[in-house]
Amino acid sequence: MMKDVYNHIVETIGNTPLVRLNKITKDFPCEVYAKVEYFNPGNSIKDRIALQLIEDAEKSGRLKPGDTIVECTSGNTGMGLALVAIAKGYKCVFTLADKMSREKVDILRAMGAEVHVCPTDVEPDDPRSYYSVAARIAKERNGWNPDQYNNLSNRQAHYLSTGPEIWRQTEGRITHYIASTGTGGTLVGTGMYLKEQNPEVQIIGIDPAGSILKHWFDTHEVKPELARVYAVEGMGEDFIPDNYDRNFIDHMETIDDKESLLMCRRLAKEEGLFCGSSAGAAVQGLVQLKNRFKPTDVVVVILHDHGSRYIGKIYNDDWMKEKGFL
Ligand SMILES: Cc1ncc(COP(=O)(O)O)c(C=O)c1O
Repeated sequence: MMKDVYNHIVETIGNTPLVRLNKITKDFPCEVYAKVEYFNPGNSIKDRIALQLIEDAEKSGRLKPGDTIVECTSGNTGMGLALVAIAKGYKCVFTLADKMSREKVDILRAMGAEVHVCPTDVEPDDPRSYYSVAARIAKERNGWNPDQYNNLSNRQAHYLSTGPEIWRQTEGRITHYIASTGTGGTLVGTGMYLKEQNPEVQIIGIDPAGSILKHWFDTHEVKPELARVYAVEGMGEDFIPDNYDRNFIDHMETIDDKESLLMCRRLAKEEGLFCGSSAGAAVQGLVQLKNRFKPTDVVVVILHDHGSRYIGKIYNDDWMKEKGFL
């Protein structure tokens, strides 16, 4: 029997490594580990939800061979869906906001998907928004819209895979779980599993200034008028997706663009971890929270995706200077 051999690339989704942070956390009293999600075949955590969304839709009969999948995505979910679609024979159409990296659009096209780039600075219900364009195309082509925001298969993927992996890898010692949050799947799905094992585990979401999630969590108010554009990608929202459940969140921490992007550069140079902006944001949030931790704590922070998708931005001095981040 051959060992560690797979029948298809999608079988390699999940079981990512947990890697200790050393330099950035050298003043911390406790151990801190990063769950390095760019080890997934699509280079992001979103491969996990792509598989769950598609397989749940197949089970329910909503998705049949040859169907078209239509989704609005910041790129990573699209990459995961494209990978799984190749394995299972579906067509993919994606809509993205125009603030997203050029690389993300090119990568999706390379994976055989049709991509529509839509304006960032319009309301979600504006017909030009990437939400509205995805809904319109899904209707026109009788396509299936996985709706990662409100489809609970999203958080279920993390309940079934990310959570158990972290619990097993830390041998149940985890005390704090930290993740940048957008649809809420990574934060809440993993949080549900971890709190089921030990209700004391603290579930901490990282939210960019300009998103309305922290305000909602702290005050119970949904205030879309507070939303403004920010530079970190894939996280923060201007509405509250159904994947959120306040019962599984203990704290939301706000981070700023500049510190988060500079933290990405530190992660690369000091830890050898070449990541996207939401990973820099998560680690920036972790550093802001340093005083909460005690020596017996075991902290796990999610690094959602790989830096290769941000070479023209975070890792480009001209772009960083032009935006005032350097
Ligand atoms: C790079 C990146 N970071 C963070 C997130 C947020 O994860 P979630 O949507 O599970 O809350 C996403 C989701 O699109 C992402 O693509």
